[in-house]
Amino acid sequence: SENMKDEDRVHRYKGILYPTVMCARENLEALGTLEARREDVVLVSYPKSGFTWMVGVLRKIMTAATGKQFSEFPPHIEFWSPEMQKGVAKEASPRLMATHLHPDDMHPSFKEKKAKALVVWRNPKDTLVSFYHFMNKSPGLPNTEWNHFFTDFMKGEVVYGSYFSHAEAWEKLYDDPNVKMITYEELKHDLSGGIRQISQFYGFPLTEEQVQTISAQSTFSAMKESAGATRGKYNSNTYRKGEVGDWKNHFSEAQSQQMDEEFNKRLAGTKLGAKLKY
Ligand code: A3P
Repeated sequence: SENMKDEDRVHRYKGILYPTVMCARENLEALGTLEARREDVVLVSYPKSGFTWMVGVLRKIMTAATGKQFSEFPPHIEFWSPEMQKGVAKEASPRLMATHLHPDDMHPSFKEKKAKALVVWRNPKDTLVSFYHFMNKSPGLPNTEWNHFFTDFMKGEVVYGSYFSHAEAWEKLYDDPNVKMITYEELKHDLSGGIRQISQFYGFPLTEEQVQTISAQSTFSAMKESAGATRGKYNSNTYRKGEVGDWKNHFSEAQSQQMDEEFNKRLAGTKLGAKLKY
């Protein structure tokens, strides 16, 4: 991907942009036949919302509860080649099925089988900032300039589509007992509390000691350090700043207002909107 032209680094599938190399068209097509199971541990997020963080937490919770080890392999189902998907189809439960796909683009079995889904959210301003830096650090993605990326993000012309469209779609599933929404901000405030809630939601009971151990291993600095030890892995440039409110160092007053207006138009008065208030 290093020698690709910027416009070739993304491709469009069913109206949405995806990273060309990581999310090849054949992967997305094959997902049309990868069925979910009731026992799957499903994790969903819009990009740059704390996905890697929650993958780490979930793998640790699942290992503590089942003794099973989970590979460091990219967890996104859309990164799996058709051959890998065939392997996953035969894997024993529980499987970690993590994705950035829009809920309408996930296989219908995710809903039909009532697989439990953790959906992690981050306020849109910090999500945009994190996304912008990631675009410029990732060899597989086009480089971009701040004002340009701001406009693309507001239009949903970024990989995986519109933040607001994802949020509106999940808002409809807010009260579904098989869906649990959690925010980056809540997790920053009380990681142990978040881990307790997540383990209860999936029915993987943990001792208080296990909760504290996983929490200590899942701070920004602990995860960054452990990713550094396995350098070159897919997520080595994921750990940037890991803070709430970095948008204040990037947004102009006009951009902040534009985001507020869009947020109010799309999400004001909704339960998810109340959780995402920044
Ligand atoms: P920043 O770019 O603001 O630092 P994702 O994994 O969904 O791509 O999200 C990446 C964002 O989550 C990055 O935000 C990254 O630093 C942050 N992050 C990753 N691990 C974290 C952790 N353990 N605690 C807090 N933030 C974390």
